[in-house]
Amino acid sequence: MRIYVPRDAAAVAVGADEVALAFAQAAAARGAAIEIVRNGSRGLCWLEPMVELSTTEGRIAFGPVTPADVPSLLDAMAGNGQHALRLGVTDEIPWLKRQTRLTFIRCGVVDPRSVDDYRAHGGYRGLQRALALSSDQILADVTTSGLRGRGGAGFPTGIKWKTVAQASADRKYIVCNADEGDSGTFADRMIMEGDPFVVIEGMTIAGITVGATKGYIYIRSEYPHAVEAMNAAIVAARHAGFLGKRIGGTKHEFDLEVRVGAGAYVCGEETSLLESLEGRRGIVRAKPPLPAHKGLFGRPSVINNVLSFAAIPFILDNGAKAYADFGMGRSRGTMPIQLAGNVRYGGLFETAFGVTLGELVDEIGGGTFTGREVRAVQVGGPLGAYFPRALFDTPFDYEAFAARDGLIGHGGIVVFDDTVDMVKQARFAMEFCAVESCGKCTPCRIGSTRGVETINKIINGERVTENLAVIEDLCNTMKFGSLCALGGFTPYPVMSALKHFREDFGGDLGPAPARLQAAE
Ligand code: NAI
Ligand code: SF4
Repeated sequence: MRIYVPRDAAAVAVGADEVALAFAQAAAARGAAIEIVRNGSRGLCWLEPMVELSTTEGRIAFGPVTPADVPSLLDAMAGNGQHALRLGVTDEIPWLKRQTRLTFIRCGVVDPRSVDDYRAHGGYRGLQRALALSSDQILADVTTSGLRGRGGAGFPTGIKWKTVAQASADRKYIVCNADEGDSGTFADRMIMEGDPFVVIEGMTIAGITVGATKGYIYIRSEYPHAVEAMNAAIVAARHAGFLGKRIGGTKHEFDLEVRVGAGAYVCGEETSLLESLEGRRGIVRAKPPLPAHKGLFGRPSVINNVLSFAAIPFILDNGAKAYADFGMGRSRGTMPIQLAGNVRYGGLFETAFGVTLGELVDEIGGGTFTGREVRAVQVGGPLGAYFPRALFDTPFDYEAFAARDGLIGHGGIVVFDDTVDMVKQARFAMEFCAVESCGKCTPCRIGSTRGVETINKIINGERVTENLAVIEDLCNTMKFGSLCALGGFTPYPVMSALKHFREDFGGDLGPAPARLQAAE
């Protein structure tokens, strides 16, 4: 009997290790032969730990499981399979079935420690094809797929790779940004823990395309499970001949190393990440030069988010069109969306671009966990805008969100019910910026601290109308005067809170500040 118990950090946090131990002990006590596979998560977080049984009709899911459920579950698994926690055939669970999983297709399915299992589920087919193509042909595929940087900025991946491929240098590097710092995001962690080889394969394809022989994965220190999973997968890939010299028996060489960050949000900004990788304090570098021209150790470097690299094997394996056929406008392919905060069905939902915010929050997310009205959602991390219900018709698309003064960022959606105090959320954004600022530029370093002080005055009811005008002015300065996105994007949550939830800010409730009116 083969039983899958996730090793994913979210499942472990709610007792998956104890459940796995209980299965091992109960089976030993009965003399039953079971094989426990520690897989990744399927992303249905409210059902974790979700255990699966391998059967001839497919995998059957049960959840959420506690150690106390294990004896009766073993009875059911050995018998007719009926149990109060039975969720049915995993692939038929509506929340999963509704998704379009291109990047996460193997996450929760395979054993993340096994190269053989990865290959048995289509892994390394993309690399095999890439090895038979020229650099230009791979670049054409990546460009035609329409893939844009999944870290948040949405820059076309094909153009970034082409810039590095065309640069001449004695060495080039591939850097994977796994410093996933946005609030409500966990897709990078999930895929690194559940399907680490897809990240390795994507980085290897990038290496052979641009002529880099070395890559680094920079993982935030808060992700020890992901660090362990990536390190184990790198060793296994090397052993199987997919990393190191003569990859797949060809002349190509590429190897990887994991580096662990030290807990600074700003190290997710690419130049700050490079400083940190080089052993210095994570302070933002001015651009230009772009990392594609002068990146790690001064050499041309491809820096992409985990999800960008993880999308590559599908594109190379299935062709650019298979990916580009999904999506809307200039947002092609799928986005692994993360539903978090006060939401009933939280988790990872991969779908084609174009789904509306309302569908995501109300239908897929099932509204709030508390059962109260949804009042606001923050999309795109702590630097993303707050959207009210009135904007729930916004399609998930880079340009559609930008047109409404928002951003989709790394695909994180945090839901709030009607008890949220939006003036406190605006204060939180400024405070977050003040705490995480690298200090290099004045608008962010000083502006965020003045922002906290000014919002404190508003909360205390001091000269509210004048102080709102100060906030507006401050946001304008930060937005246009900051060196990087941390200071430059902090105005999004602040101004969206002010624009859409003006009533929370007190004062005479006079007209919205002039610039906001102009933006309407
Ligand atoms: P950016 O727009 O400056 O650059 C985007 C990427 O394209 C960079 O890698 C840049 O080097 C590259 N690039 C730009 N022009 C290029 C060219 N001509 N040739 C080759 N490469 C080029 O944006 P930035 O500052 O890197 O990222 C901002 C985004 O980061 C925001 O949209 C935000 O959503 C996101 N973010 C994500 C977080 C996360 O946890 N994933 C945390 C904080 C912010
Ligand atoms: Fe540093 Fe903030 Fe300026 Fe970015 S905006 S460079 S984090 S001080």
